[in-house]
Amino acid sequence: MIRGIPTLDDLGDVSGKRVLVRADFNVPIEDGNITDDFRIRAALPTLNWLRDRGATVVCATHLGRPKGAPDPKYSVEPVRARLAELAPGVELLENLRFDPGEEGNKPEFVDTLIEGVELYVNDAFGASHRAHASIVGPPHRLPSAMGLLLAKEVEVLLVLRNDPKRPFVAVLGGAKISDKLGVVEALLDVVDSLAIGGAMCFTFLAAQGKRIGDSLFEPDQVDTCARILEQQGSKVHLPEDIIGLDATGNLATWGTNVPDGGKGFDIGPGTAAAFSDIVMEARTVFWNGPMGMFEDDRFAAGTRTLAQAMADTKAFTVVGGGDSAAALAEFRLDDEVDHVSTGGGASLELLELGDLPGLVALREAPNAH
Ligand code: 3PG
Ligand code: MG
Repeated sequence: MIRGIPTLDDLGDVSGKRVLVRADFNVPIEDGNITDDFRIRAALPTLNWLRDRGATVVCATHLGRPKGAPDPKYSVEPVRARLAELAPGVELLENLRFDPGEEGNKPEFVDTLIEGVELYVNDAFGASHRAHASIVGPPHRLPSAMGLLLAKEVEVLLVLRNDPKRPFVAVLGGAKISDKLGVVEALLDVVDSLAIGGAMCFTFLAAQGKRIGDSLFEPDQVDTCARILEQQGSKVHLPEDIIGLDATGNLATWGTNVPDGGKGFDIGPGTAAAFSDIVMEARTVFWNGPMGMFEDDRFAAGTRTLAQAMADTKAFTVVGGGDSAAALAEFRLDDEVDHVSTGGGASLELLELGDLPGLVALREAPNAH
């Protein structure tokens, strides 16, 4: 038991039992091919633990966002093929989100999921912030446990949240700010510094009264950003230079004021150096979200510089999911950080709230008391 949540050992003898493992195999697929199987490999320790002890393992996952109906585009077939290579004999159910009961958390859908199943394991950290049927349903009905991946993720992120070595620095990027303001505020209560890059910086720069040209920003969040800066501004580090395209489409570097018609796509070299210094001096770093549109080489330098600092620093380094993990992998630095989380939204929500619907449900499992 960890934090009131049963672990695999709390399942008792699994030999000969049918175990449903909710995994997050929501992997990127292009033209039917998996472009990054990190999430599948991350679940292998749990799958092997169960197989080695004689359990029959049935996995279930969502894939993409089909709207509650079967859609060949989101078939789990490529995942099934990869899983067969990595963990022969493990079954995989069809995409959970082909049934509206998954996102709607319908009891009848839980019934079908657990039919013929004796035990349930949640190893889907990346989806445990969703109160969907496969995450919160089975733990109320079957002896249940957190898998090894889920346990590791929770441990690492809760140490960050509750007991980080200081200085503790967070670096946030990515495009959407409305998703992240809750976590920005929660992080500001625990970090010593928060560096903000990516498109989300423009809403903060606008809140400071800076000119941002045509850069992406969220007008309805400007007031909240202004309030955050007023209350906790001393901890917040914003870009001091920006790289983008000017009104005629030419590459340009500006100070913090982007001229009319200009559009920012990356933090500038001065900012990248300043953020790197902060990371180098930290003892704990959490990074979520790229610093710029790194898929385009012209706007990759900021993210690349930050990724290199994450690799070089002596700090304990954690990267939260999705695009930042993809950036690290692209720069071949993914082995150079201490923990790459399999969850984007889930890692942010766990840092913000200290708990997740999936964990709450596991604490209520019949074998948790
Ligand atoms: C993710 O990739 O963020 C997780 O698998 C959750 O997917 P969702 O954001 O579509 O719920
Ligand atoms: Mg997501």
